[in-house]
Amino acid sequence: MDLDGRVAIVTGAARGLGQEYSLALARHGARIVAADVLACDETLSRIKAAGGSAIGVTVDVADRRNTEAMAERAVSQFGRIDILVNNAALLGRLVSFDQISEDEWDRIMAVNVKGTWNCCKAVIPIMRPQGKGKIINVSSGTIWSGTPHYLHYVTSKGAVFALTRSLARELSGTGINVNTLTPGYTMTPAALSLADRESIETLKQNILGQQIIKRSEQPGDLSGTVVFLASDASDFITGQTFNVDGGGNLH
Ligand SMILES: NC(=O)c1ccc[n+]([C@@H]2O[C@H](COP(=O)([O-])OP(=O)(O)OC[C@H]3O[C@@H](n4cnc5c(N)ncnc54)[C@H](O)[C@@H]3O)[C@@H](O)[C@H]2O)c1
Repeated sequence: MDLDGRVAIVTGAARGLGQEYSLALARHGARIVAADVLACDETLSRIKAAGGSAIGVTVDVADRRNTEAMAERAVSQFGRIDILVNNAALLGRLVSFDQISEDEWDRIMAVNVKGTWNCCKAVIPIMRPQGKGKIINVSSGTIWSGTPHYLHYVTSKGAVFALTRSLARELSGTGINVNTLTPGYTMTPAALSLADRESIETLKQNILGQQIIKRSEQPGDLSGTVVFLASDASDFITGQTFNVDGGGNLH
């Protein structure tokens, strides 16, 4: 799973899982474009401390021109784009389906769904002439479990899953593979802030009860699958969904 010489854009790379994926890809030799609405300084210094190479790009993935500029910056800095990890998303808060404001619904769809589409559109023209590319779209295990009180987010992640399948077929013959990752409930600060402390504790215990592997999922549990999907080891895999959740949902 050597990624030496490869260039990877990771969106939502300022913190949480995006930071973890960036570090993991860098440790395998990829040069990283860490893209986020927030500053990626911490991610960049962790990559550099590990001997890797990375730049930060400020981007709102919901804005098409921003994502085009992100791809241009990647090419001007590193000359190519081999890997895109569509990880940026709004996680929102747990709330009853009829209490979600229209503004929040629209913003979650704009970032999680349109943002994924925008980033794909921005990088595919670069990957196409290279004859090869790896796109990893981050969905969520909530699409299997149908997590209640999370309608906006679960709907958006269902769209990411569907988009992946359709795009993978549309890119037949290009050498560009598109796959989905569905992480389980993973201990990041954002995931632990979805509701009040007591509700989160109940949620954690319910999820642990479902899992075959009886411990809470950590960011590092996902990085091996991301590196695999970014590498040549997965060249014959496209349009697929990888569920990494300690056996909580059996997909
Ligand atoms: N943590 C979990 O339990 C879990 C489970 C399943 C799926 N996921 C998915 O994993 C990904 C990362 O989750 P996380 O827990 O690290 O959350 P997080 O909130 O820490 O990370 C999301 C990142 O996306 C960035 N972002 C938000 N809006 C953006 C925009 N418009 N443009 C660019 N960047 C933007 C944020 O600034 C943040 O750095 C998300 O796609 C999330 O839906 C997380």
